[in-house]
Amino acid sequence: MEEFISAIDIGTTKICALVAAVTHDSLGNLTLRILGEGQSASRGIRRGVVVNVSEAIAAIGEAVEKAESDAGRALTSAYVGVAGSHISTLNSKGVSPVDARHGVTNQDMQRALEGARAVALPQNTEVIHTIAREWVVDGQPHIQHPLGMSAYRLEVDAHIVTGSTTAINNITQCVRAHDIEIDELVLEPLAANEAVLRPEERRMGVAVVDIGGGTTDLAIFLDDGLCHTRVLDVGGNHFSHDIAVGLHAPEETAEELKLRYGSVLPERVPEDDRVWAAVFGEKAERSFSRHFICQILAHRASETFEIIQDQLQESGYYERLSAGVVLTGGCSLLPGMTELGRSILGMPVRIGAPSNRLPITGLSRHLQSPAYSTSIGLLLWGLHEDARKIRRETPKHRGGAEWMGRAMRALKNLLPG
Ligand SMILES: Nc1ncnc2c1ncn2[C@@H]1O[C@H](COP(=O)(O)OP(=O)(O)OP(=O)(O)O)[C@@H](O)[C@H]1O
Ligand SMILES: [Mg+2]
Repeated sequence: MEEFISAIDIGTTKICALVAAVTHDSLGNLTLRILGEGQSASRGIRRGVVVNVSEAIAAIGEAVEKAESDAGRALTSAYVGVAGSHISTLNSKGVSPVDARHGVTNQDMQRALEGARAVALPQNTEVIHTIAREWVVDGQPHIQHPLGMSAYRLEVDAHIVTGSTTAINNITQCVRAHDIEIDELVLEPLAANEAVLRPEERRMGVAVVDIGGGTTDLAIFLDDGLCHTRVLDVGGNHFSHDIAVGLHAPEETAEELKLRYGSVLPERVPEDDRVWAAVFGEKAERSFSRHFICQILAHRASETFEIIQDQLQESGYYERLSAGVVLTGGCSLLPGMTELGRSILGMPVRIGAPSNRLPITGLSRHLQSPAYSTSIGLLLWGLHEDARKIRRETPKHRGGAEWMGRAMRALKNLLPG
């Protein structure tokens, strides 16, 4: 029976829906074959959260319909990205006794994770992910897969990701309005990491920084485990907004100027380069120095990298990022971002985007852009779900038990598209 995985990346500028089939390569490894892609301009979403339900539902519907018609089958369940400044994270520990006769069982691991998750949360907040960072078996740390080990006591060091119940319910409602079940809500930087990080980077210490339209999402990995996540309220739209304010021009014009002439290294732009643009209060277009536009962008980009640096330092992992920073998201395409990032952060910086190196076939050139790292990462998250020791939080009002979600998906996949 062929299985399918779908993803919906609800961004501030674009919504991307993808449908893929799960296949096996010649070595028997699980791979994905992209069957359909649909995109729409985002509406009703700001900085990762729904601000207008009916507009968001319509925009999601547009992307979903395109993906369905491209794939030739209905999209019935999906992995959905979640972001926004309502996201918080904390590290917590949990413990479980182990029956030495059987060794560590799945239930012991679940019990330890549940213990870690039992932290006091502010009102209107719920757990999105509980991710095991490290297991400790009878006092021996740094265990990655304790299942089956003989022991008396199992401890887990877990990373808990929480979000506002209202924000989560709104995203859920917008997706469900299209009769689409949510396989899992996935924190966007966790999804993006799947598409852009190399295993060695994750081992050595790396931060993946997704600069999208409305948010900058950050996730730090070290020793193969997730250590820290953060969603910041700044993104490419702020870059365009600064140009709009600086030139007294409409946002749309500013966005176009950024995409066509933008760079964050003004010193590389000839002083006499001029561009024409419409401005408020005048009928005729006006001429501007391209150098000036790039100075505006450089200013905002420097500020963004300084905020990222503060966050990395605050996390306590700044000195341990041997593999540096992997930049992704549409805004990383602005010329000069890697150079500027390197000089401000003082560490290696590269751009990460989905590529043919991933276990995916049918990846169009269009999708091999940093703007689609989260979208492709959501599919990969789905593919790897079983492999990771992750406890998925499924509040009863949203999805019922995890097995039920899977059973529904399996049933729906049997139906003709
Ligand atoms: N070629 C490019 N050069 C510069 N900026 C670009 C380019 N392409 C896209 N961008 C910018 O990237 C941003 C959109 O990125 P992306 O598609 O990753 O965001 P999103 O997923 O919709 O938003 P978010 O993840 O923040 O909710 C926009 O601000 C856009 O102007
Ligand atoms: Mg995004």
